[in-house]
Amino acid sequence: MTRRRDCLIAGAALAATASPIGRAFAQSSPPADGEPVRRPDVVFVPTPQSIVDQMLAMASVGPNDVLYDLGSGDGRIPITAARRWGTRGLGVDIDPQRVREANANAAAAGVTDRVRFVQGDLFAMDLSPATVITLYLLPALNVKLRPTLLKLKAGTRIVSHDFAMGDWKPERTVELDSRTVYFWTVPPAGRPYPRG
Ligand SMILES: C[S@@+](CC[C@H](N)C(=O)[O-])C[C@H]1O[C@@H](n2cnc3c(N)ncnc32)[C@H](O)[C@@H]1O
Repeated sequence: MTRRRDCLIAGAALAATASPIGRAFAQSSPPADGEPVRRPDVVFVPTPQSIVDQMLAMASVGPNDVLYDLGSGDGRIPITAARRWGTRGLGVDIDPQRVREANANAAAAGVTDRVRFVQGDLFAMDLSPATVITLYLLPALNVKLRPTLLKLKAGTRIVSHDFAMGDWKPERTVELDSRTVYFWTVPPAGRPYPRG
């Protein structure tokens, strides 16, 4: 009963946002009894391919990059990066169904030598190998990630579909197909992120 109430509260808050994620959450059902206790922090809504392409172009991904997609859904971001630019990638998703789907999509795309998907909580992952981080989460989740992102290697690129990082000033934003793509790079250790 508590889980159901929490889910409804979260859904109402998200539905108040005008984003596709907010609308999807508003239409989703609360978890039925017997489902895993740890619910996703945000529902699965795939990034349109045009936006995936824009995110990867802004991050200038290449064969020497290691891309981590946090909340990887059906795997389209790491898979596209591997297919087109030879990028190595890891996707993490809390939903085992999404992980199975993403690994099947990687196999179908012929990129399992470069990309894999694991089940887990993105907030508990070791992100240190990443040179590129991609996100399509929610504003509060992006802000919660900030202390972890600041510990990554200086110069690590961060790209987010539709949601900012609180008051971190993006180096670049692009508007495309009614979406916004944000770009930041991790500053040298110990230096705060420029606010704006
Ligand atoms: C909006 S979808 C984005 C999917 C994909 N990155 C894309 O852009 O197409 C967010 C994904 O995050 C996953 N997710 C939610 N909370 C999570 C958590 N704490 N740890 C890992 N994955 C999570 C959901 O299951 C969902 O697949």
